[in-house]
Amino acid sequence: MSTDTMGSAYGRAPAHFNETLAAVGPGTPCGELLRRYWQPVALSDSVQSVPRKVRILGEDLILFRDHRGRAGLLYPRCMHRGTSLYYGRIEPEGIRCCYHGWLFDVQGNCLDQPCEPDHGRHRESARQPWYPVQERYGLVFAYLGPPQKRPVLPAYDNLETLAPGETLWHSYGGFGATGDDSLSVVPYSWLHMNDNVMDPFHVQVLHSTFSTVQFVPQFAVMPQVDFFATEAGVCYSAIRQLPDGRQVDRVSSWLLPNIMSVPDVTLKAGPSSGVSWVVPVDDTHYVQAMVARVPKDAPFRNMLFNGKTWGQMTEAEHRDTPGDFEAQAGQGPITLHSDEHLVTSDRGIMMLRRMLLEQMEVVAAGGDPTGVTFDGDAAVVKVRSGNFYRAKQAVG
Ligand code: FES
Ligand SMILES: [Fe+2]
Repeated sequence: MSTDTMGSAYGRAPAHFNETLAAVGPGTPCGELLRRYWQPVALSDSVQSVPRKVRILGEDLILFRDHRGRAGLLYPRCMHRGTSLYYGRIEPEGIRCCYHGWLFDVQGNCLDQPCEPDHGRHRESARQPWYPVQERYGLVFAYLGPPQKRPVLPAYDNLETLAPGETLWHSYGGFGATGDDSLSVVPYSWLHMNDNVMDPFHVQVLHSTFSTVQFVPQFAVMPQVDFFATEAGVCYSAIRQLPDGRQVDRVSSWLLPNIMSVPDVTLKAGPSSGVSWVVPVDDTHYVQAMVARVPKDAPFRNMLFNGKTWGQMTEAEHRDTPGDFEAQAGQGPITLHSDEHLVTSDRGIMMLRRMLLEQMEVVAAGGDPTGVTFDGDAAVVKVRSGNFYRAKQAVG
């Protein structure tokens, strides 16, 4: 066959995504794995005395804070006759349904049935479906898994101690993909961002030499990269020889199943100051929850591209200077895994996907996946990420 007839787009095989990786709903392999870890569902400050709709892992839920300050996450359809608790009213002890006034506390216990004799003689046996929540680092975390498998909510060593003059910065939405707060939900699979974190090579191309310098010029140096497995995920080390003679080793981390710590994108020296979670809303949408230690007098700001935030850019500017959002949205609602041609630079992605698939099997077999712990004393996670500089001669 001559080369001008090979590789034709005509008659190609239908492409498909890997459903085992991509589906996050209840009962799916990856959905069950994700449900074994605490997932951030909102910023604490955003949960007030007004019920909020929350969608996570393909489930619609109602999030609220009672007048005693406790956050609660309930199944939205009232167990009585099914109207939505979105229309409920918050009281000191819980949320009261608008239709016939049943009152539920943050654990779904029914405290009042005002239309019934004695306010419901059997109300103790009524239970609105609920999920446990806990708050840490300014985020509300929920556990959507089997109750008997509920792990300790982990702490992260780089978020535990604030230096004088530091505060915790938070965001919940599309900041990680866009560099600004213009998107509350990102309209494609969480897998795209999850893969992206173990992809140090796109930093040299997409962020540094293809579009414009989106972070710092030093990223235009092609790094020497090593990927290595850790006790609960994958790290990369990307070493660059800088023109001033120094080396910088940029270490980034992915932790099972959807957690990352990306070091400072201006290559500021030192350990990473943040942790983020790529939380699936459903199979084709996600939100990124981010927490970072920042100086009080220099908080995180929306990033500017040619003086504009991502949300202010025109369609032509998005096309001419694509960033993470454009590259990841360009992969479609869920990337077509059967179309991919993974190569040596994708080794980190292959490692993290393999870990996800292995841990799905562990869960399916009744085991506990890597990274969950039931021992409160052991629940501080070590974060290795950072930008580490050395004099060039100090390294072989
Ligand atoms: S439907 Fe909620 S109390 Fe009747
Ligand atoms: Fe990126």
